Amino acid sequence: MTGRKYVSRSFLLLLYRVFLHLSAAAGLADDGEFLYNGFFAGAVLTRYGTARIMPDGLLMLTNGMVEQRGNAFYPVPVRLRRESPSPSPSPSVRSFSTSFVFGIQTTDAQDLGDHGMVLVIVPKSNLSAGLPSSYMGLFNSSGSAGNNHLFAIELDTKQNIDSGDMDNNHVGININDGLAFGDEAKAGYYDDQSGQFRNLTLISGKAMQVWVDYDGDTTQINVTIAPLGMKKPTRPLLSPRHDLSTAIDNESYIGFSSSTGTLGMQHYVLGWSFGVDKPAPAIDVARLPKLPVENTSGSSQSNKTMVIALPLVSVVLLLFIVACVTLVIRRKRYNNVELREDWEVEYGPHRIPYKDLCEATEWFKNKNMLGVGGFGRVYKGVLPKSHLEVAVKKVSHESRQGMKEFIAEVASIGRLRHRNIVQLLGYCRLKDELLLVYDYMPNGSLDRYLYSHDDKLFLSWDQRFTIIKGIASGLLYLHEEWEKIVVHRDIKSSNVLLDNEMNARLGDFGLSKLYNHGSTELQTTIIAGTLGYLAPEITRTGKASPLSDVFSFGVFLLEVTTGRKPVEQSIGGGINMLVDVIFEHFGRDSLLDAVDPRLQGKYNINETNLVLKLGLLCSHPLADLRPSMRQVVQYLDGQSPLPELMPSHTSFSMLSMAQRSLSSMGSISQFSSLSGGR
Ligand SMILES: Nc1ncnc2c1ncn2[C@@H]1O[C@H](COP(=O)(O)OP(=O)(O)OP(=O)(O)O)[C@@H](O)[C@H]1O
Ligand SMILES: *[C@@H]1O[C@H](CO)[C@@H](O)[C@H](O)[C@H]1NC(C)=O
Ligand SMILES: *[C@@H]1O[C@H](CO)[C@@H](O)[C@H](O)[C@H]1NC(C)=O
Ligand SMILES: *[C@@H]1O[C@H](CO)[C@@H](O)[C@H](O)[C@H]1NC(C)=O
Ligand SMILES: *[C@@H]1O[C@H](CO)[C@@H](O)[C@H](O)[C@H]1NC(C)=O
Ligand SMILES: *[C@@H]1O[C@H](CO)[C@@H](O)[C@H](O)[C@H]1NC(C)=O
Ligand SMILES: *[C@@H]1O[C@H](CO)[C@@H](O)[C@H](O)[C@H]1NC(C)=O
Ligand SMILES: [Mg+2]
Repeated sequence: MTGRKYVSRSFLLLLYRVFLHLSAAAGLADDGEFLYNGFFAGAVLTRYGTARIMPDGLLMLTNGMVEQRGNAFYPVPVRLRRESPSPSPSPSVRSFSTSFVFGIQTTDAQDLGDHGMVLVIVPKSNLSAGLPSSYMGLFNSSGSAGNNHLFAIELDTKQNIDSGDMDNNHVGININDGLAFGDEAKAGYYDDQSGQFRNLTLISGKAMQVWVDYDGDTTQINVTIAPLGMKKPTRPLLSPRHDLSTAIDNESYIGFSSSTGTLGMQHYVLGWSFGVDKPAPAIDVARLPKLPVENTSGSSQSNKTMVIALPLVSVVLLLFIVACVTLVIRRKRYNNVELREDWEVEYGPHRIPYKDLCEATEWFKNKNMLGVGGFGRVYKGVLPKSHLEVAVKKVSHESRQGMKEFIAEVASIGRLRHRNIVQLLGYCRLKDELLLVYDYMPNGSLDRYLYSHDDKLFLSWDQRFTIIKGIASGLLYLHEEWEKIVVHRDIKSSNVLLDNEMNARLGDFGLSKLYNHGSTELQTTIIAGTLGYLAPEITRTGKASPLSDVFSFGVFLLEVTTGRKPVEQSIGGGINMLVDVIFEHFGRDSLLDAVDPRLQGKYNINETNLVLKLGLLCSHPLADLRPSMRQVVQYLDGQSPLPELMPSHTSFSMLSMAQRSLSSMGSISQFSSLSGGR
């Protein structure tokens, strides 16, 4: 126990205490009084629990930890009973007065209070026996009522329902261990000038002064509280009458006690004075120690913030160091992870260091993820040096077969420039991942607009027609206008991205090639592309051509005009191909019925008719009957008339069957489920 610690203190201190005991005991009988303007050198208190006298003169009762108690008593007993109690039933306790300055700080972020602190007068016997139990560090609330001789002024910061506390910020008077005297009041004071009540917050962390005055003749107990520095208000907060003769023995100890429960609090006493048969000496406010982190210019808010912020700052600092260390380790790891081979030297400008991509995407944080596609995840990032906004696509690949050719292609694709294609900025190669870096498109992909129920993501017919013409022009560039023929292989609305001017750009070209590169046998050819957009000849031969792109583009045209997905689940559980549905409309001469209802009839009939018919023409099952992209652009621009559309029903049925048989193999959403092994 801590009591033993006290006994084992230095002999000198013991002597000093004995001396104090004798002198004070004698002195207090007559002119007993004391004054602590802070607890500086020479201040001796009997302490239990966490109570400490700090080097700066503060008496700290609790240290901010939970489930603590701290007690500090004036080391010698005070004689509060009259010398010779008269036989008459007149009160036998002398007048006394005490005053103290305290501060309560909470470490709780929500500023919740815990048990508060009390000023107590207890009989000697119970002091040496050690303080019995937990409540207020003195006694427990379930203790037998009235048996403990005790007088206490409590500053309660926790509402104890059991003992009928009024709130969590009150001042109360306890006599013996009966807490139900009803002498309690909301913390505050009556302004001398206006007479109005001003409330105080005990746990504000601000220093406050308490005065307790007992009149031995009238048995009136006055309790007053005010902010530190204020003159003692004339009207007391509490002023009941209670004969203290049952509570106070002829030899009593006066001191402070406080405890914490589940919330950490710090209770401090800054100064204290006491007098018997006379007013307690005035505490010199100017000489008092300062509460920790108390800033005279700062508000209590900033004090609280500091109390919370200081440990936080140290934690953050620690985390920062840990982060730095991991960073260094990671930096070392970059070199092991990133693959660089000799042949890559020639693609130098297009190779982006892994480190840069990690930094750009904050180590591929989920919050930076733009979406997940059939090939992998796409992250948004900002390149460290150029501050360029980019989209980083992580493509996993299992074999490095054909990687050299693929990279060669990526590098050459990087040289493509057109206002309707998403610029590929570069790549980075890891052991089993390829990172492709594209220009970031702030308005996202077109599918978002087509299938959203959000009215903000609505595209008018004019916007749609512009997008269609833009994509046609981008695809024409890939097929015919560049030095090589580039087959896109995955045209669909999610690969049509919108830049900040809502200008449509085609992304992800050539990527699907990664999956059927190097496969020579027909059976092992992995079909790449997205179902519903897939030309029938691809499902047969696995060979992509510009005309298979035209097929997908045709489906895309129907999709944009009707606002319907290329493949829809039918009510009967089967699937409906958009191409079939539109073809039926065409046969019934009701094409305009298929136009997206979200447009609410606001569209150019000639244009929608043209686009729907062109869509059917492009998605013709027989590749040879499809137009080239150059022709498509001419039809869209009205430079040449659309040929009369007369496809036979059988060809379309063939197409449907091919697609249906494919979809029965697996998921209809993405090719990835068909690619196997991944
Ligand atoms: N350059 C980009 N700028 C902005 N967002 C992008 C960019 N590229 C892709 N995205 C977003 O990331 C999502 C996922 O793209 P991803 O290409 O991986 O999948 P997908 O287009 O649905 O299918 P696929 O894998 O067949 O291309 C897209 O839907 C789009 O919203
Ligand atoms: C001391 O406290 C105990 C309970 O812990 C009580 O029974 C006893 O009466 C007290 N002694 C005095 C002298 O009040
Ligand atoms: C209260 O204290 C008494 C003795 O001091 C003890 O027997 C009792 O268990 C305590 N009650 C609680 C609730 O702590
Ligand atoms: C005082 O109490 C009133 C009512 O309980 C409350 O509205 C007001 O904010 C309190 N003022 C302070 C300074 O706590
Ligand atoms: C208590 O306060 C009242 C009102 O100010 C005063 O008249 C009385 O003398 C005070 N009693 C003591 C003991 O200070
Ligand atoms: C306290 O006072 C009573 C009566 O005056 C006396 O009998 C008793 O011995 C005193 N106790 C002490 C410890 O002085
Ligand atoms: C108190 O806060 C002010 C600014 O708010 C600062 O300049 C000053 O140094 C602080 N004083 C102490 C003792 O922390
Ligand atoms: Mg895509």
